[in-house]
Amino acid sequence: MAGQYRSRVSGIGSYLPEKVLTNHDLEKMVETSDQWIIERTGIERRHITPEGQATSDLALEASRRALADSKLNPEDIDMIIVGTVTSDRQMPSTACYLQSKLGCRNIVSFDLNAACSGFIYGLSIADQFIRTGMYKNILVVGAEVLHRFVNYKDRETCILFGDGAGAWILSRANEGDNQVIHSSHMHADGNLAELLTLPGGGSLVPPSQAVLDSNMQYVSMKGREIFKNAVRAMAQCCQEALEANNTAPEQVDWIVPHQANKRIIEAVADQFKFPMEKVIVYLQETGNTSSASIPLAFDWAVQTGKIKRGQTILLTAFGAGLTSGSILLRY
Ligand code: ACO
Repeated sequence: MAGQYRSRVSGIGSYLPEKVLTNHDLEKMVETSDQWIIERTGIERRHITPEGQATSDLALEASRRALADSKLNPEDIDMIIVGTVTSDRQMPSTACYLQSKLGCRNIVSFDLNAACSGFIYGLSIADQFIRTGMYKNILVVGAEVLHRFVNYKDRETCILFGDGAGAWILSRANEGDNQVIHSSHMHADGNLAELLTLPGGGSLVPPSQAVLDSNMQYVSMKGREIFKNAVRAMAQCCQEALEANNTAPEQVDWIVPHQANKRIIEAVADQFKFPMEKVIVYLQETGNTSSASIPLAFDWAVQTGKIKRGQTILLTAFGAGLTSGSILLRY
């Protein structure tokens, strides 16, 4: 019956390309230092996709790992959602390429653009389709090849971003199973859209030589403003998740926040007096991988024995838009 079902996380996986770009490498490219980057962001290195590979290739690796973890086959998947701002092409969607590469049935497959909140938005949408009883197994992916949209002459942005992918499979939970997604909350404040954009190449400013000459094909960001709004938005979303579930911060085992900047994460944790020992921080290895950052950090935390089955986890993100969101779940 519609509205009777709950979703559980039946499998997770992630993928980082092998090639690494360290802070020391960046010191040779722009006027910056390893010390400045670590102090201001916490980032030490980021991973870079080799030429010839695209977002769907990273998504494929992460999805195969999630499928193996869930013990499901590609033909069991009923829907694919890919959160990305760096799709293989403007059209068709990366999700369609992924569907073909994985060998799924002709299931509904689409991309969603909520920038760094893309994975939270994707999980929330998947959760609704499972709750209504429409689908049983949904593949949600966050995948980005951001380094191709970053200007390596702009020290304020090029130090931040990296490539990677993460995938989860949400499946219909058995009756009585309490390892489920409890709630999801999503927001967007379009009044703050201009704080973080990729200004050229869309319908407003179509591709042209002038776009290339003025570097409008690269990410443009007002860092300080983003910082302030990120802390406010993620703290609000966490509060909303806790209140909706009548849960105190002490009852949460781990927060897995979007991995943009360690200082942003510390400021959010501080608002709840949440100890940093219970916050997953993986950005030292990845930089900001936008929609891939939460599933990458989560997978790493599971692999390293931090997050365990049965624990209560709070996910939260913010991104260009400005979008934001939170999910409370028992893993
Ligand atoms: N190396 C050395 N110096 C630098 C660098 C760099 N890479 N970048 C900036 N500086 C300089 C600035 O020019 C400035 O110099 P000035 O004082 O002479 O003017 C000084 O360092 C301080 O600059 P601020 O911008 O005030 O530095 P801040 O502490 O705010 O850190 C940062 C900058 C890291 C960008 C921070 O604002 C931030 O993390 N903002 C949020 C960014 C973010 O999360 N973006 C993505 C969000 S959404 C998504 O994930 C897609």
